[in-house]
Amino acid sequence: MSALILRGGTVVSGSDSKKLNVMIRDDKIETVFEDHELEAILERESDAEVIDVTGKLLFPGFIDPHTHFQMQASKCVTADDFDSGTRAALAGGTTVILDFTTQDKGESLMSALSRWHEMADGHSSCDYGFHMSITDWNEQVHHEIPLMTLEGVTSYKLYMAYPKLRVRDEVFYEVLKAVKNEGGIVGNHCENGDMIDALTADLREEGKLGTEAHPIAHCREIEAEAVQRYLMIAKLAGAPVNIVHLSTKAGLEYAREARKNGQKVMIETCPQYFFLDDSLYSLPDFEGAKYVFSPPARKKEDQDALWEALENGEIDTIGTDHCSFNFATDKHIGEYEFSQIPNGIPGVEHRPVLMYTYGVQTGRISNESFCRVMSENAAKEYGMYPQKGVIAEGSDADIVVWDPDYEGVISAETQVQNVDYTPYEGMKIKGRAQLVFLHGKPAAAEGQVIAKGLGKYVHRDKADLSFRKVGD
Ligand code: URP
Ligand code: ZN
Ligand code: ZN
Repeated sequence: MSALILRGGTVVSGSDSKKLNVMIRDDKIETVFEDHELEAILERESDAEVIDVTGKLLFPGFIDPHTHFQMQASKCVTADDFDSGTRAALAGGTTVILDFTTQDKGESLMSALSRWHEMADGHSSCDYGFHMSITDWNEQVHHEIPLMTLEGVTSYKLYMAYPKLRVRDEVFYEVLKAVKNEGGIVGNHCENGDMIDALTADLREEGKLGTEAHPIAHCREIEAEAVQRYLMIAKLAGAPVNIVHLSTKAGLEYAREARKNGQKVMIETCPQYFFLDDSLYSLPDFEGAKYVFSPPARKKEDQDALWEALENGEIDTIGTDHCSFNFATDKHIGEYEFSQIPNGIPGVEHRPVLMYTYGVQTGRISNESFCRVMSENAAKEYGMYPQKGVIAEGSDADIVVWDPDYEGVISAETQVQNVDYTPYEGMKIKGRAQLVFLHGKPAAAEGQVIAKGLGKYVHRDKADLSFRKVGD
């Protein structure tokens, strides 16, 4: 098979950026080489296709470690399934998503995993893997943990909130110990579910049923206490942990303290916690429902703390928690009471442009930091490195040719996501994925998918958490 050469670009990794050429053969990166080698290589590879990417940045395909596609809520299903969700991801430069397989009560983990494979296999346009959400812990499920490793599932998410999903503290303790033995990692939805129920009951009694009540029922203390409790359980279990969709300054401070005390704590946050705030819940005409997700959008003080943490390298990964519900239909299910509004927002398509525009272009983070939080760290934490997360010899040829000069505006009218709004409507962007290679094939260009259905299941290995030193 003849080679493909990307010539003249700047290859970005988590540690440096270098002007390098990249040679792809079939679905792998064959070599990365300097200009002085170009002539000899072109002579040898006389039938190679050469694409000039001068002035462009080359990033390893972005990884979104937090999506919910085709997720059943109590009265509806998410607007994006694996077909539209993975197309939207790819259009924005994301070449791997990790979705959440959720065990039903009484179900085996194998059965839950098969259901997710059925939804995703053959329907995906970017690569995908699964975290496992355990909702019903028992001896049989315990014995299935090593089986999950064999199936390529090495990460888990448990919930402290949501009536149908949450588990008791002792289950957290048992799961953390079992997953630690497998070299995996457990994430937690850190919200105190009992207190959400109690505050919601109070608000109901007071007749406060509008969207502005959502951040009151899910106030900051609800997250902070859950983060603290999770860290305490993890310490006793002697296990590393992942705090997913961290939203508060108080929660961040507990995580910092645990790190200082020697715990291995991974932190994920999401674009919504940098860009959206709780004033949105007071919008008229039920517009606030567009922003009902949990944990909710917070205050400027929390946003500032998260930006500072990102700048300091304290945030490991940025996921989207993409969980899209149509405003016109699904969100209106909760028209008469905020607690009935399906929780979640779209974001899988716009995460790269948002974080690049407002993170890199503003000088808050470097291209290298962007590469770490958008790709490299997730590849390591979730057992995909160096197959994914780096442009290097032998790695999958998943490459984003990034145009740092493109200017545009985010709009639901032009998005690939199959949902009737975007929470980022009208936001200006600078930079975008001009061309996206998946397994060595051009799969998306200028915000549109050009090759559908190329996505494969990523069979993952153990977590490699060595990029986060104990104490930092
Ligand atoms: O509102 C949200 N985040 N919905 C998706 C489920 C979850 O908690 O991650
Ligand atoms: Zn969650
Ligand atoms: Zn989620």
